[in-house]
Amino acid sequence: MSPVTVSRALAMLAAEGLVVTRPGAGAFRARPRASAAPAGDTSWQEVALSADGAGDLVPRSVDASGVLVSLAAPPPGVIEFNGGYLHPSLQPERAMAAALSRAGRRPGAWGRPPMEGLPELREWFARSVGGPVTAAGVLVTSGGQSALTTALRALAPPGAPVLVESPTYPGMLAIARAAGLRPVPVPVDADGVRPALLADAFRATGARVFVCQPLFQNPTGAVLAPDRRGEVLRIAREAGAFVVEDDFVRRLVHEDAGPLPRPLAADDPDGVVVHVCSLTKATSPSFRVSALAAHGPVLERLRAIQVVDTFFVPRPLQEATLELVGSAAWPRHLRTISAELRARRDAMTAALRLRLPELALPHIPSGGYHLWLRLPEGAAEPALTAAALRAGVAVTPGRPYFSAEPPGGHLRLSFAAVAGAGEIAEGVRRLRTACDEVLG
Ligand SMILES: Cc1ncc(COP(=O)(O)O)c(C=O)c1O
Repeated sequence: MSPVTVSRALAMLAAEGLVVTRPGAGAFRARPRASAAPAGDTSWQEVALSADGAGDLVPRSVDASGVLVSLAAPPPGVIEFNGGYLHPSLQPERAMAAALSRAGRRPGAWGRPPMEGLPELREWFARSVGGPVTAAGVLVTSGGQSALTTALRALAPPGAPVLVESPTYPGMLAIARAAGLRPVPVPVDADGVRPALLADAFRATGARVFVCQPLFQNPTGAVLAPDRRGEVLRIAREAGAFVVEDDFVRRLVHEDAGPLPRPLAADDPDGVVVHVCSLTKATSPSFRVSALAAHGPVLERLRAIQVVDTFFVPRPLQEATLELVGSAAWPRHLRTISAELRARRDAMTAALRLRLPELALPHIPSGGYHLWLRLPEGAAEPALTAAALRAGVAVTPGRPYFSAEPPGGHLRLSFAAVAGAGEIAEGVRRLRTACDEVLG
């Protein structure tokens, strides 16, 4: 065995308390631990966990299932059409490792950062949003999920309604429910949220918040049409409400997309938009650096909640972000994933059209990492997803994307988390097997 392996093994044994190491003397067997404590009776917790909150207007429920679908690793041999992040081969692993090691050597890297984030990083985020957004209006946060949680908690008290797109990201619905909010769905079509229905929903509910993904919406891939952008802001402004803009995959634009619309926040002088953007989707789920951008008194509220909940984002990670986005590897990486995601989208679209023509594919997105398919009338989503898993492909059912009764069955298929075109073809073949079994 190599000395490195031996010292790693010793370190593991020491961490487990089985050996003690004495520098200069060697490694020795540790004294045996006292035998394990008897298993207690935890059944009282069932009562305790349900007893509180009986008086809540909207019961708070924490359900992680919608989030875990795109985070959990599939069983061995199963093709991952349900992943929410880039396959390791698409992640900028070397650039991230280099950035982290350079960051660790920066002066003060392990010191306490300013609570709102490093000034240069706030500046970088502000420039990438554009328009009236300045560094002073940016808070560095710990991934989109945490930024959305902060935004919803800041903007709506427990029991309040919050308007959400329908369908939308289940992780955001989970945040709303965990905060005791009441998600109210507003349908989207191929051009994003439907403004007339948005205005109706504000009138009917008195909501003060609307959560919107104007670019490559999850799950539909829709982009908010140019003529709807101003309308959405105007409707929200007239309702005295905020728009939380979740700009989660701007950097996953496909090579063949036209020029991208600016974030809504860039065209918002009145502080209607609270903007959220995250770097995880273009890097790795562990690169949990994101930003909240806002202006007006709401900024103080966001800042207070962020500090109370999490203090700040670890400084080494913020320093690593500056190293990464300032490196020559960063624009190269973005170009690579842009080409690769387009190729994968095309491969998946072609395979689906050939082998699964009965699954409707109403919209081919020019950004993001997934396709949204409509199942034939009467097809049972749970039966199909279970059959797919038996056939060796994990797919995401549509139901968790709807906050109320869905208008039909859907599947979301991700093409970013698989190894490449070969797995895409094989995954679609396996899905065909599942459809043959379930749809007849
Ligand atoms: C629409 C949307 N917003 C936000 C997130 C949160 O991502 P992260 O916390 O990794 O930035 C996700 C993750 O899947 C998402 O799909």
